[in-house]
Amino acid sequence: MCGIIGILGNSEVAPRLVDALKRLEYRGYDSAGVATLEDGHLTRRRAAGKLKNLEALLEQSPIRGTSGVGHTRWATHGAPNVVNAHPHTSGRVAVVHNGIIENYLELREDVVRAGAQIATDTDTEVVAHLINRELEAGKAPRDAVATVLPRLKGAFALAITFDGYEDLLIGARKGSPLAVGHGEGEMFLGSDAIALSPFTDRITYLEEGDWVVLTREGATIYDAENHIAERPESVSSVTAALMDKGNYRHFMAKEIHEQPEVLGHTLSRYLDYAKKSVSLPAAEKVDFRSLNRILISACGTAYYAGLVAKYWFEKYARLPVEIDIASEFRYRETPVIDGDFALFISQSGETADTLASLRYCKANAAKIGAVVNVPESTIAREADVTFATIAGPEIGVASTKAFTCQLAVLACLAIHAGRQRGTLSEAAAAALVDDLAAVPSLAVQALNCETQIEKLSQPLSRASNALYLGRGTNFPLAMEGALKLKELSYIHAEGYAAGELKHGPIALIDENLPVFVIAPHDAIFEKTLSNMQEVAARGGRIILITDAAGDHESGGVAGDTVIMPNVPDLVAPIIYALPVQMISYHTAVFMGTDVDQPRNLAKSVTVE
Ligand code: F6R
Repeated sequence: MCGIIGILGNSEVAPRLVDALKRLEYRGYDSAGVATLEDGHLTRRRAAGKLKNLEALLEQSPIRGTSGVGHTRWATHGAPNVVNAHPHTSGRVAVVHNGIIENYLELREDVVRAGAQIATDTDTEVVAHLINRELEAGKAPRDAVATVLPRLKGAFALAITFDGYEDLLIGARKGSPLAVGHGEGEMFLGSDAIALSPFTDRITYLEEGDWVVLTREGATIYDAENHIAERPESVSSVTAALMDKGNYRHFMAKEIHEQPEVLGHTLSRYLDYAKKSVSLPAAEKVDFRSLNRILISACGTAYYAGLVAKYWFEKYARLPVEIDIASEFRYRETPVIDGDFALFISQSGETADTLASLRYCKANAAKIGAVVNVPESTIAREADVTFATIAGPEIGVASTKAFTCQLAVLACLAIHAGRQRGTLSEAAAAALVDDLAAVPSLAVQALNCETQIEKLSQPLSRASNALYLGRGTNFPLAMEGALKLKELSYIHAEGYAAGELKHGPIALIDENLPVFVIAPHDAIFEKTLSNMQEVAARGGRIILITDAAGDHESGGVAGDTVIMPNVPDLVAPIIYALPVQMISYHTAVFMGTDVDQPRNLAKSVTVE
């Protein structure tokens, strides 16, 4: 998390740093800061809270200069206050950092022994002290950084600027992403191509362990062994336009409503509508016939997309799937065996735990696939085969359209695997393709229930707990619903397999507990209906999300029923995701929480 930017420019740098930080704010919004070289000397401004506070400060108290660094923070070490805001300085050095310096306590003892005054609770400050000490000992900035980098353990992307050096910026990357931007007589460093998009589309991505010395003339990249390294320059497709909310009150609302369109884009990438088949040229790199199993790892909402996919791969391709939360998988020492295909799902493509799991599987010689929304991300670049979701930039911190697009891609992949393995006939696959082709128009119909959802969300905002139930592919969706409600409205919620209710959670049921039941009228609807009766018998308040047939059969057991269009089994979790998202959105709006940037969260989780 955290976003960093560094600029060696030819015009006033502070507004440019702020412009870049606006694009990086999705990485954290606990505080923001910039440091520039004003007449050759370091000066900085920092503010707690969102970037707009820094902007206000810079208006009152501007800083000049054409080179500098900037930071937007997601707090790890130290409270989110102004003292702990980056850039951190020591003597002639200012540092911005994304990641965690794991051995900072030991390093701090070292610098304190040598006389440094510690001003913050952060792990980053020590980096500035260490580099400054080397400068004081007479080293040039480049040599000072080369001496300090091997001492830093953990994950970091750093941008460092030096008092008295207006044509120098040094960056380093280990575990956290960092890109170099090439301008006309200007050079840039940034956490991603989005940050650099107003300045240049010519990007070089640093590799693990790389560090880089920038002047306005260009960049010299060194690898972890300090050898000069050649890294390719590519042209980024990221647009420089700042995303706007259109007519919506929040990005999340806009992104929920974009789903019919982006699902259409994503599906048309992978479906051949005329031939009624899946068209996945990238998947030709994977021989599904020879696979014994798929290993899926992901975090949060992306993990729930993977859980849905497990049902699909097992049902349609008869292919066993093991799925794990990436933060567990990476340390579990899972044996990776011949015939494993490892699949990673990530909107950002930068999630630290997912990336570490990918690298674990790669080191163990598995074939690596990735379902990713950001095509230039580290996970996309390190995978053997990438299946892009065409959701477009997702700005709301809570994932919505990326999730349903992940499901769309995974459904295509499961059908493709089923065809290759001979477990799906051509006719059966064609019928599933028809089902997927209907998704955009079904999604439009699903959005029509918004007014009703808005009404029923109002009393919900007074609840302190909620339960979500579902069976089959709607069980992961129940967990996704609970996650969305928690993160947006701060109401505690749990998602359970409906059949598991009687094994414990039923003890929670009383008239104050809203119970959302996600139950299309499918082959197991009756089983879910029995679970609803169990809730009703104990006075529970049921909000049933179903279709007309389900409504009819439920015989009025639910207090409220949200009626969805009739949907084929395959696409139910995609279409039912929309009311689930809208419930959390409207509840949060009623509660007045920060919908697009909920407290304590960040969009791209690049720390463990
Ligand atoms: C929840 C949410 C998170 C992310 C998770 C993984 O709404 O957005 O749970 O799904 O942090 O992020 P990515 O997909 O970028 O790897």
